[in-house]
Amino acid sequence: MWVKNPQNKTIMRLKINNKAGSSVSAVIIPVAKQGSLENILAKIATKTGVPLKLLKEDFKANHKEIHTLYTEENKVGKRTFLLGLGEAPTFAEVVSAFRSFAFKKKTILPSKIGIHFNLNNVGKNLTSWVDASINGLFIGRYDIGRYKTEEKTNFAFSKKDTLIELYVPKVNVKAVENAMNKGRAAAETQLEIFDLVNAPSNMKPPQVLADWAVKSGKKNGFKVKVFKKKEIEKLGLHALLAVNRGSELPPTFIVMEYKPKGLKNAKKVGLVGKGVTFDTGGLSIKPSTNMHYMKTDMGGAAAVLGAMELTAKLNLPIHLIGIVPATDNSVDALSIKPSDVIQSYSGKSIEIIDTDAEGRLILADGLAYMIKHFAPDVLIDLATLTGSCVRTFGSLSGGLFSKNDELSKALLKASEQTGERIWRLPLWDDYKNYIKSDVADIKNFSGLPTGGAITAAKFLEFFTDNHPSWAHMDIAGVAVSDSEYSSQKSATGFGVRLLVEFLENMVQ
Ligand code: BES
Ligand code: ZN
Ligand code: ZN
Repeated sequence: MWVKNPQNKTIMRLKINNKAGSSVSAVIIPVAKQGSLENILAKIATKTGVPLKLLKEDFKANHKEIHTLYTEENKVGKRTFLLGLGEAPTFAEVVSAFRSFAFKKKTILPSKIGIHFNLNNVGKNLTSWVDASINGLFIGRYDIGRYKTEEKTNFAFSKKDTLIELYVPKVNVKAVENAMNKGRAAAETQLEIFDLVNAPSNMKPPQVLADWAVKSGKKNGFKVKVFKKKEIEKLGLHALLAVNRGSELPPTFIVMEYKPKGLKNAKKVGLVGKGVTFDTGGLSIKPSTNMHYMKTDMGGAAAVLGAMELTAKLNLPIHLIGIVPATDNSVDALSIKPSDVIQSYSGKSIEIIDTDAEGRLILADGLAYMIKHFAPDVLIDLATLTGSCVRTFGSLSGGLFSKNDELSKALLKASEQTGERIWRLPLWDDYKNYIKSDVADIKNFSGLPTGGAITAAKFLEFFTDNHPSWAHMDIAGVAVSDSEYSSQKSATGFGVRLLVEFLENMVQ
């Protein structure tokens, strides 16, 4: 049912201060719209033999602007693409410029291309632009049409032996090489995550998420234990089972652990991701208009899976645990009903007001299990949790909830660096009153049309046992977004880069 997309075996080479030209037949020169633009264009004009006056008139280095120059052999490249990055581009803007470039040009790009960092105004941003450019080029090759039966055109640029050469100044070559490898490693994981999140629900029952984790763990070196329904019952993950009651597919509870050999006294970080493989709302059923997007309600799980994989690939010196409770939320005679009182792994009882507030239920069990079995120093959960968060931020930011200022700061820093935006919202205890239940320890919904993202976070907090370093990210608005890939919203891979950046900063 689930087959991985074939991996491209692109060869990447660094060429120090190289003139380019001979081995590649296309060269990209990324150029920002800033101070030295004029000097840069003068240099490019000289090198390529095009008139500077016209070049200045026609190319403004606006973000995603592409200007193609055809030159004789042994100039820069037979085809030289000037790629505009806009003014003072952020990491994410460099990624999106390259992604857009690769997506637009993939049918005409040759299999051997170069990226020139000696003929541009990269300045101090070399490692960042190298990472971003490789990353963008790779994810720009993404093809969302994987279930189309028509034969795929095999573009030169997506062939196995595609070669990318980077021409860089002779500074800090090792750091540039690391950046190049990171850009590629991240992209490979992000492409996998795109496929998982974009997959229709019938292609990704909870067992498929588990299989994905097992396969990635074997390949990249982290342990994976998958609990199936019987074991989930034995463990007493009652809230996960409650959500799963209406489903014909058994749930899975995926526990992943990455711990590099010989690592002592490392910080232990626990990640928990919402793995709802389709959210109909249950008996509190959702309107049908946008229900198809609820195949992406495992975006939090995808972020955790991707972060586990990328952390292992990059061999980060950190002890990382990932937990994904996975199920769909379906309608059936056996489904839980509003007013039901259910149990949970923590021992606390929950009154169900709305069966569409299911994510917080399975996360309650994931968080409680994480704390009991791993006692992590830092605990972070990610979930496509509330429409309220979407209404607050649109698709431009996720919501960040934490009482820990230091942890919030570190996550906001990683967010700033990667461009995967989050913004902090409060967790004031006054909001606890909204979810007080008369009959159980807590209820899963306030019944009010206001404060939805915050009360959802307060609900989760109830199951964190006052963990001093817990953060929740509501990524409902950002797990999918508009892009060049599709006429519909599609996966962004949100969280993978952010989490790995956060972990990297932590161990530096
Ligand atoms: N999966 C949804 C949240 C969601 C909404 C994700 C839109 C992506 C886009 C979640 O399970 C949900 O249904 N939340 C409800 C909770 C409410 C019933 C308390 C919501 O936010 O409306
Ligand atoms: Zn729901
Ligand atoms: Zn949901």
